[in-house]
Amino acid sequence: MSILDSISNFTGNLTGGLGGNMSADMAIDLGTANTLIAISGEGIVINEPSVVAIEKASHRVLAVGHEAKNMINHTPDAFSAEHPLKDGVIADYDVTEAMISAFINKAAPRKYPWQAKPRIVICIPCGATSVEKRAVFEAAIQAGARQAYLIEEPMAAAMGADLPVTEPTGSMVVDIGGGTTEVAVISLGGIVTSSSLRLAGNKMDEAISMHLRDLLGIKIGERTAEVIKIKIGSILPFEDGRERDMIISGQDMVTEQPKEVTIQSEDVRAALIEPCEDMVLSIKETFKKTNPDLASDIIQNGILLTGGGGLLSGLDRYLTDKLEIPVWVSETALTNVVTGCLKVLETPTALRQTLMRSR
Ligand SMILES: Nc1ncnc2c1ncn2[C@@H]1O[C@H](COP(=O)(O)OP(=O)(O)OP(=O)(O)O)[C@@H](O)[C@H]1O
Ligand SMILES: [Mg+2]
Repeated sequence: MSILDSISNFTGNLTGGLGGNMSADMAIDLGTANTLIAISGEGIVINEPSVVAIEKASHRVLAVGHEAKNMINHTPDAFSAEHPLKDGVIADYDVTEAMISAFINKAAPRKYPWQAKPRIVICIPCGATSVEKRAVFEAAIQAGARQAYLIEEPMAAAMGADLPVTEPTGSMVVDIGGGTTEVAVISLGGIVTSSSLRLAGNKMDEAISMHLRDLLGIKIGERTAEVIKIKIGSILPFEDGRERDMIISGQDMVTEQPKEVTIQSEDVRAALIEPCEDMVLSIKETFKKTNPDLASDIIQNGILLTGGGGLLSGLDRYLTDKLEIPVWVSETALTNVVTGCLKVLETPTALRQTLMRSR
């Protein structure tokens, strides 16, 4: 599928869409874990968790982003802090729309009602169904976009990381986010082969929670599990040869009393093996479906590892070992998708050529 296939699916009029004044136009990485917004000439202006705090009775949005994430597990019963996206796609349409709307307004408030609404390039997982794609498109329009263009996440990530996506060579991207692991082979401006696994950073957190519950009889919250993963999580022994430990607090499984324990990085690693093995299988499957010429390019060029989940300590070395192909982690793993979406906004001519070439 070419870069703009999904865009044209929903707009019908591609050539008129991206050419005009782009001052307020926006690129959005609508992620399960984080939402980023970039504006032409300004760069990234929003980088916040995809979380919304809601008053249950009235469904009123109280806070979004960082402020709402800080409320997770601390909200009184009358309020809830929600993740409106699950596994890369919209799980709660109204809450997603409210969140996008709040972020758009924060990114570039419209000073006057007659001011033009922004055009938006927004990403979708490559495994999204047409209903899921339509939901993102509608949510962007309802949240205040004049026009919305959809781009598949690994393509945006590859463009953001400056891979030669339009060249006649094969590039492979593995984007491990919060909800999905997207694997794609890109050549001549299009995705040639792809897979989307609904398992990524969030499932690593769940695996850590379950493992510590079974091992130490402690119940921990989702934020604690994520902090553990980022601070002492690793899929291979650390390069300095030293293991880590960390004091965590949670609830005793039996007494439900507060409990504090010291956990070891080896135990966290044991929890991470299963999700990481599933990712290896998904990448291998995609690689098997790739034609031999592109496969040989990938062996030569290596695989780009991106997305926040790709930052797990040792994952690049682990994948290199399991796949027997060099895997390198992007230095801009958390921002490649939004940067790629911004490039789509800024280079319409190149993309139109890409579209024509790949058809
Ligand atoms: N240093 C790190 N080590 C391990 N995991 C990390 C690190 N930094 C961030 N993460 C994880 O990366 C995930 C978020 O990544 P990202 O922002 O790319 O996801 P997303 O784009 O919101 O999700 P998706 O693309 O699946 O919809 C979270 O699970 C987070 O815990
Ligand atoms: Mg993502």
